[in-house]
Amino acid sequence: MSVELEIAAALAVIRRSVATEPKLGLVLGSGLGAFVDQLAERVLIPYRDIPHFSEAHVPGHAGNLCFGRLGEATVACLQGRVHAYEGHPVARVVFGVRVLAALGCRAVLVTNAAGGIREDLGPGELMLIQDHLNLTGRNPLVGPERPDSPRFPDMTEAYDAGLRSLGRLAADELNLGLKEGVYAGVLGPSYETPAEIRMLRTLGADAVGMSTVLEVLELRSLGVRVGGLSAITNRAAGLAGQPLKHSDVEEVAARMRRAFVEFLSRWSLLVVSEELGG
Ligand code: HPA
Repeated sequence: MSVELEIAAALAVIRRSVATEPKLGLVLGSGLGAFVDQLAERVLIPYRDIPHFSEAHVPGHAGNLCFGRLGEATVACLQGRVHAYEGHPVARVVFGVRVLAALGCRAVLVTNAAGGIREDLGPGELMLIQDHLNLTGRNPLVGPERPDSPRFPDMTEAYDAGLRSLGRLAADELNLGLKEGVYAGVLGPSYETPAEIRMLRTLGADAVGMSTVLEVLELRSLGVRVGGLSAITNRAAGLAGQPLKHSDVEEVAARMRRAFVEFLSRWSLLVVSEELGG
């Protein structure tokens, strides 16, 4: 079955539960799914109930498509995502964001947990993603040319300048320190070696993680505006003098939940009011 038909089948099931078109999509990374508690009139659809959605298997990742109202608009959230390191084909990794685009989202905010490489990016910091390095060795656009996307999509402004300005505005309004930087997306699942972190720093990376970049390539090829946010959960390998553990990443993500949710809610509200022409 073609991916287009798979998306149509997924939409048919989703639209049985939700009639309104979402203005904004969100992808909620490791331990960051609590954002959905901010939404009014929530409708939660487990991935397992949607045809062709893959379930998330990583601890800290729920697996639900969640709709709700934020201000005057409906938003759609992927609460948990699938990763290439789980062995999923790239087409599965980006299936969820393709569904967000097909539902009508013209802007998507993508979030993740990441390791800080730049000196000032320690555990607990929020980093607005300025740009990325795709070091996964994958690209979701490999394959025959598609009717819905150009053969050679431009990535000069993968992370939309307007959405980044709204992110800075949200941080100002909340009086919250927001960093900005370049996210390096790697395949994982092993954490990096200290030598790899030195290499990434030389290449211009400020933070590193195992998600996001493939979804962003897919969304940009579909013409969707993208904003990116990293919750820095740890100093990258070799910078903290101790081994990295997923349980530590989860623990810091949990501690960051309140600030993360507060910021993401404010940012999302600014984005939907702009999308509504307000
Ligand atoms: N490296 C890769 N992915 C991550 C990290 C890290 O240090 N922290 C959270 N996700």
